[in-house]
Amino acid sequence: MSDKKIIIAIDGYSSSGKSTMARRLAAKIGYRYIDSGAMYRAVTLFALDNGIIAPDGTIDRYALDKALPSIKIDFRPMPDGSQHTLLNGHDVETEIRQLRVSDNVSPVAAIKEVRKALTALQRELGQEKGIVMDGRDIGTTVFPEAELKIFVNASAETRARRRFLEMCEKGDNVNYEEVLANVVRRDHIDETREESPLHRADDAIDLDNSVMTLDEQNDWLERQYKSALDKLQ
Ligand code: CDP
Repeated sequence: MSDKKIIIAIDGYSSSGKSTMARRLAAKIGYRYIDSGAMYRAVTLFALDNGIIAPDGTIDRYALDKALPSIKIDFRPMPDGSQHTLLNGHDVETEIRQLRVSDNVSPVAAIKEVRKALTALQRELGQEKGIVMDGRDIGTTVFPEAELKIFVNASAETRARRRFLEMCEKGDNVNYEEVLANVVRRDHIDETREESPLHRADDAIDLDNSVMTLDEQNDWLERQYKSALDKLQ
């Protein structure tokens, strides 16, 4: 096996389990994990908290554009191996996962200037390779040269059920129908937007994990990583 470091891009639909598998693989192989969705969520939280998104969901694009240079996003590694998202130095990990942010993030992520700023940051983070990044456009736009690209899917109901259980475990007061509606709506916006829409890269490997256990999924991904390394030689 080569000891060369590669870029691993994991894209797919909302709540498809990308983050879990990306995080686990990164920890196992000693790579850095970057959750690109957390960055879009952090920008959305900033916009909500600063009156840039009105209560009816309307985005003041001019104000957002002006604010972008002052939005600093970082990740802080935690003792348990996870990482928390920092927005201008504040830990916003819990807030960015709430439905208030999920309901507004896709329209924010469809804005060209937002994508440009975050894509630049993501590329900077991947400069030295040895990175696993998950999102919607990592294999198509951010790192089209990634050595390993995975495209994850599962039915909308399966994905909404998983997200619903995850939120219930955290103590969030949500109902399943609400979560399903959010998943379906975000899929639609992500797939149909003009800028870097969610679509499978031609050279991506498909994974439908509807009926896979977490262990099966992790083993599958590790095999893909090993065979990507083998191909380098
Ligand atoms: O809820 P889930 O984990 O599936 O989503 P996420 O990865 O946290 O991403 C939240 C939202 O950010 C997505 O619904 C997309 O609208 C947007 N996003 C994007 O446009 N491009 C990315 N590379 C990552 C996320």
